Amino acid sequence: MSIKKKDNKNTTEDINTDTLLRPQIWDDYIGQEKIKRNLNIIIEAARRRKEPIDHLLFYGQAGLGKTTLAKLVSYEMNAPIKITSGPTIDKAGDLAAVLSNLEEKEILFIDEAHRLNRMIEEVLYPAMESRKLHIIIGKGAGARSISIDLPPFTLIAATTRINLLSAPLQSRFGATFKLDYYDQKDIEAIINRSAKLLNLKIEPEAITILARAARFTPRTANRLLKRARDYLEVNNESVVTQNVAEKTLEFLDIDKLGLEKQDRVLLETIIEKFDGGPVGVNTIAAALNEDKGIVEDIYEPYLMRIGFMRRTPKGRVAEPAAFKHLGKNPPQKLL
Ligand code: ADE
Repeated sequence: MSIKKKDNKNTTEDINTDTLLRPQIWDDYIGQEKIKRNLNIIIEAARRRKEPIDHLLFYGQAGLGKTTLAKLVSYEMNAPIKITSGPTIDKAGDLAAVLSNLEEKEILFIDEAHRLNRMIEEVLYPAMESRKLHIIIGKGAGARSISIDLPPFTLIAATTRINLLSAPLQSRFGATFKLDYYDQKDIEAIINRSAKLLNLKIEPEAITILARAARFTPRTANRLLKRARDYLEVNNESVVTQNVAEKTLEFLDIDKLGLEKQDRVLLETIIEKFDGGPVGVNTIAAALNEDKGIVEDIYEPYLMRIGFMRRTPKGRVAEPAAFKHLGKNPPQKLL
């Protein structure tokens, strides 16, 4: 079972639990201190001016809390929020319908914004800049363009792949925030908080083990905790111990640093087929049967974060720590 790939296929029970675990107020939100500070300034200033906040762009790996932050902004601004995503806005008319139904100061959250097509972006530009909706009515010689005034609103867009967002769109946001990986201590605090909310007893050693395998990502941390809870349920146990945490990871085929099958294939390609590298990203993408952009944006960031690989002008190179993790000796050239 893949933790990463399961992201969009949660069961109803998972979704209910996720809602329970999601922080509802700033004080419950752990980590990303710098972003919280900066957002608070923007929110406070807008509140004093009695205006909606400027359009915001959040980017970063899946599961780092982009939607949670958008919801917290809506809560703090006391403004309603409408949530949609790039792939569901297929035609310009879809976006026009969403925009023309916005209330004053409402927040429109568009997830996976890199999947908006260019025609949709063209509708967004004037809406963001001057709160105008330009729509074409009719076809051919009789077609005419009308302009509708929109209420003051805020667009919050989120993406895992900032490079795929066009420059004109990026430039129209008043502030852009990069969500970074959390540190081990924050992930441990998140697991601790979630365990309390789920009424789960968990030993400190188990928290450390689950946190270390959580890829510095809250969503993954919570998912591991939920699977540990399943393990308890099925085995009639009552405390998440070190043993339960280890068994949970084993059952999920996740190793103690959170690596999954595809991560191991990636490292093995560099290490076994190319003697540690350098090897081009296209070759790695072919070995994983994935798009080059996915390798760069989804797989590599975590492996670089844990010091397992490096990007060089000649290609990807495995670090000695990766050899060690896979039980192999690094070649002399890397030492
Ligand atoms: N659950 C998911 N993300 C969280 C965060 N940043 N703080 C607290 N709980 C969370």
